Amino acid sequence: MTEAQRSPLSVVILAAGQGTRMRSHLPKVLHGLAGRPLLGHVIGTAQALDAAAIHVVYGHGGEQVREVLGLPAVNWIEQTEQLGTGHAVAQATPAVPADHRVLVLYGDVPLITAETLRHLVAAGGSGAVSLLTAELADPQGYGRIVRGVDGNVLGIVEQKEATPQQLAIHEINTGMMSVPAKSLQQWLARLGNDNAQGEYYLTDIIAMAVADGVAVHTVRAPSEDEILGVNDRVQLAYLERRYQLRQAEKLMRAGVTLSDPARIDIRGTVEAGLDVVVDIDVILEGRVVLGDNVRVGAHCLLKETEVGAGAVIHPHSVVEQAVIGPGCQVGPFARIRPDTVLEAGARVGNFVEIKKSTVGEGSKINHLSYVGDAIIGREANIGAGCITCNYDGANKHQTVVGDRAFIGSDTQLVAPVEVGADAVIGAGSTITRAAPPGELTVSRARQTTIRGWKRPQKKPSR
Ligand code: UD1
Ligand code: CA
Repeated sequence: MTEAQRSPLSVVILAAGQGTRMRSHLPKVLHGLAGRPLLGHVIGTAQALDAAAIHVVYGHGGEQVREVLGLPAVNWIEQTEQLGTGHAVAQATPAVPADHRVLVLYGDVPLITAETLRHLVAAGGSGAVSLLTAELADPQGYGRIVRGVDGNVLGIVEQKEATPQQLAIHEINTGMMSVPAKSLQQWLARLGNDNAQGEYYLTDIIAMAVADGVAVHTVRAPSEDEILGVNDRVQLAYLERRYQLRQAEKLMRAGVTLSDPARIDIRGTVEAGLDVVVDIDVILEGRVVLGDNVRVGAHCLLKETEVGAGAVIHPHSVVEQAVIGPGCQVGPFARIRPDTVLEAGARVGNFVEIKKSTVGEGSKINHLSYVGDAIIGREANIGAGCITCNYDGANKHQTVVGDRAFIGSDTQLVAPVEVGADAVIGAGSTITRAAPPGELTVSRARQTTIRGWKRPQKKPSR
């Protein structure tokens, strides 16, 4: 069947469950995996499917859920009472046109991939139902897939209703399924809640499909990670590690050397060139771009940052919303704050903080400095312990340092102030007015020696 013949897709994400076992004030689906709410992962995956619409059925902490996830173009539907998965889906189906196919996902099953879901939807063809199933060594707690002697699916039986024979079945219902909307609406209308949990089970529609002569196909999940749900923080931590390992493997396959794939955390997206080397315990957040041959030392945090080819970020550096040019050297122990641009070959050394500044090509700020709201030219040298006094208590002011200027150690540049090209500032100066280009400017008191001065003597004690 071609893409064009297939009916449009409406995704329904179930996210109304309470998540008591998280023991949290935060709704379960807002707990983060790789820095993003669980539900955000599922919505993101749904968006990759070119669905006509995405409906999210929310309940507990609904307002908070909508606020945190904010923008995504989804249709929020409240389920005021959690009466079961069938009841939850029934809250969304009135909004779904009859010629659509409904794909049911869970907001607390974050690692399902778009690829698996495409297989699942395709398996449903034009009018059939398709179920995503898994073969688990320990099927405890899950609904079991019941098949006839011919191997065809007959229905799903929940753990609490299962006979001892059915409990021995290891093929389980992941909960994700694709169902023609028109049939789904009819079946949901016929659901009852006369069962062990007094809930409207979505799973009961499978036996109805079989009774109506609608084919039920199954698709096997390619890995257990994809179908695992989060019920408590132990499971959350487990899936976090599984996710991180998957990200690490992708990077390595793309040409990045990782000192230890178990000790990198990616909380966003990484675009990496060839022969990048990342040492242990590095965190990459948001969109991070690493050019060819970039090296990131141990214990660095890089957030929404671009690093040019051949640059080295030495250990224990924190770089946020910055552009690090090719061949730059940063750290160890450097802090680069938002809106900083280091041009090619610039060097920022230990215990240096830079904020909202541009550092020109080949310039050096190697030790113990604070540079904020500054424009530094090329090949300039900012000595140890230099400070831009950019804040007067009310407003921020700019410091401009010309090309090849040399600022002696322990200088304070009181902004707004400008140091001309090729200027030299004597160590320990407090510069409050423009320092002309090409000249030496010093603002410290002259050194004097008092000849013959005697050190005080300690009085003898009585
Ligand atoms: C469900 C399935 C079971 C399957 C298992 C997989 C049913 C009856 N059973 O069981 O066959 O093996 O998932 O994990 O469908 N939810 C709502 N509103 C509700 C109830 C649930 O939004 O009224 C949401 C939950 O937030 C959760 C999902 O639906 O994301 C599944 O609910 P849960 O209670 O975990 O289902 P299980 O009983 O585990
Ligand atoms: Ca569950």
